[in-house]
Amino acid sequence: MKTLDMESLQALVPLHGVLLSKDVVDNWETIESFQARSDDVVIATYPKAGTTWASEIIDMIYADGDHEKCRRDYIFNRVPYLEFRVPGMPTGIDQLNGTPSPRLVKTHLPIHLMPNSFWEKKAKVIYVARNAKDVAVSYFFFHQNVSALPDPGPWDKFLDNYMKGNVGYGSWYDHVKGWWEKRHDYKILYLFYEDMKEEPKREIRKMLDFLGKNMSDDALNKIVYHTSFDFMKTNDKVNYKSLPKEVIDQSTIPFMRKGIAGDWKNHFTVTQNEEFDGDYKRKMSGTDLHFRTVI
Ligand code: A3P
Repeated sequence: MKTLDMESLQALVPLHGVLLSKDVVDNWETIESFQARSDDVVIATYPKAGTTWASEIIDMIYADGDHEKCRRDYIFNRVPYLEFRVPGMPTGIDQLNGTPSPRLVKTHLPIHLMPNSFWEKKAKVIYVARNAKDVAVSYFFFHQNVSALPDPGPWDKFLDNYMKGNVGYGSWYDHVKGWWEKRHDYKILYLFYEDMKEEPKREIRKMLDFLGKNMSDDALNKIVYHTSFDFMKTNDKVNYKSLPKEVIDQSTIPFMRKGIAGDWKNHFTVTQNEEFDGDYKRKMSGTDLHFRTVI
């Protein structure tokens, strides 16, 4: 891999009120004009909400529960990342244009930045949301691992930036609300990480129904087994250990870090928690969208 200009790679600039990587914003036209297909299935999330988990589940659904088929390639090739742009690597758009249908598409875009063709083509979207506190913790550690992300600074500072939406993909609050409010306007299945943790089989059944797929109980059980946190943690096709240390350094904190609901309790101080809750109440007032921070 060629040497990367870290400063420019880590730069975040606003686009329609949302901070995105500068390279993505500079090339926004290529993303905005992306041509979706009617049988595309989009996995949309705010970062750290369980994107990789949902991606593996949906690829296993498309492989009828055959885990060997899902070992054909790494998750980032089986489910290309729409807005991905890192110099010297294929862009998400290039990858997707070269992928035969039916395509699985990963994105972290807020709904108002989604390329219009997804709606014109009536593509299906599975949105996974995770509670704001666990996302904040997971995102903080992720910033420490990934060289393309800016230095998060100490936890207190990162949490403050996160609450203000001064992080990549902007405000968690706007993201989860934006997709929630439009879930009946388009073909959107809105799921929660905490529900998936609590009862994966039930949530996978929702995905099957939404995708119009039938599956034997045996195949469904195989999906539950192969997409458990413990299994995925050691699966080199999904744990990103295949990527060089220069891209993601997992020597101290693995990508598959904890995989639980409620880890925030180990990181939020009492004061941080009180401030967070007060701010949360204001930002989430007027919505019927509710999260569980423990299960
Ligand atoms: P933690 O950092 O809290 O452990 P994303 O794929 O959107 O980047 O999300 C990553 C988060 O999802 C990490 O959270 C990771 O451990 C968790 N995760 C990945 N696979 C999982 C699985 N099979 N079950 C539960 N959590 C999983």
